[in-house]
Amino acid sequence: MRTPFIAGNWKMFLDKEKGVGLAEELVKGTEDILDREILICPSFPLLSDVARAIEGSKIQLGAQNLHYEEQGAFTGEISASMLLSIPCSWVIIGHSERRHIFKESNDLVNRKVRSALKQGLKVILCVGELIEERESGKTEDVVREQLVKGLQDVQADGMKDTIIAYEPVWAIGTGKTATPEDADNVQSFIRGILSNSYSEDTARNVRILYGGSVKPANIDGLMAKDNVDGVLVGGASLEADSFLRIISFGE
Ligand code: PGA
Repeated sequence: MRTPFIAGNWKMFLDKEKGVGLAEELVKGTEDILDREILICPSFPLLSDVARAIEGSKIQLGAQNLHYEEQGAFTGEISASMLLSIPCSWVIIGHSERRHIFKESNDLVNRKVRSALKQGLKVILCVGELIEERESGKTEDVVREQLVKGLQDVQADGMKDTIIAYEPVWAIGTGKTATPEDADNVQSFIRGILSNSYSEDTARNVRILYGGSVKPANIDGLMAKDNVDGVLVGGASLEADSFLRIISFGE
């Protein structure tokens, strides 16, 4: 049984006051939620304040990136131990904005994944194809490569602390959502790869999220699919009303 997982990626939005205010509203709005996990991923400078705002609540805290080294002269970078000390338990790795704007390779993504897991963070590994890759029938090749390379040398045990997010790049921030069928097809393909790389049992237990223009209006259709175990939400997670409506899908 995979517990639904709803994650909000605040990206480079919200200052301290707005971020803490949003976190407080989310705490109030999720008091009665029992059967789903909820995560918010603010920008680095907000993590400590948001951690205080959600203390004792059901909401978990994640970062949007990290450096793979444990410490060192890496100006502007953040390590896993710094995140853990906040305390922050999750990190998003390989988001398409990191891959495409900041040119992160599969190799770099893999180093980050291995380092995060080794040091005790839980990981959301993002994969997804560009529009031209989809149109030229390469979706499965791209997703397979990102997944296999991103998880290289990650043992089955590490998969207990790993979530995969399928985020087709053409659907992120564009208002174009993959249909629930599109998402389910690719996510079932992802589960198949995990089954080959690890075991059927591991693949059955790993949660696979969909991300890309998730909104209150499309959440129920997405969550109705067998292989959609949750969502990674950008724009619609920046406002309490819309994120709370997404969190309470199916009600
Ligand atoms: P979006 O972003 O919901 O604004 O499309 C999703 C994401 O980038 O994780």
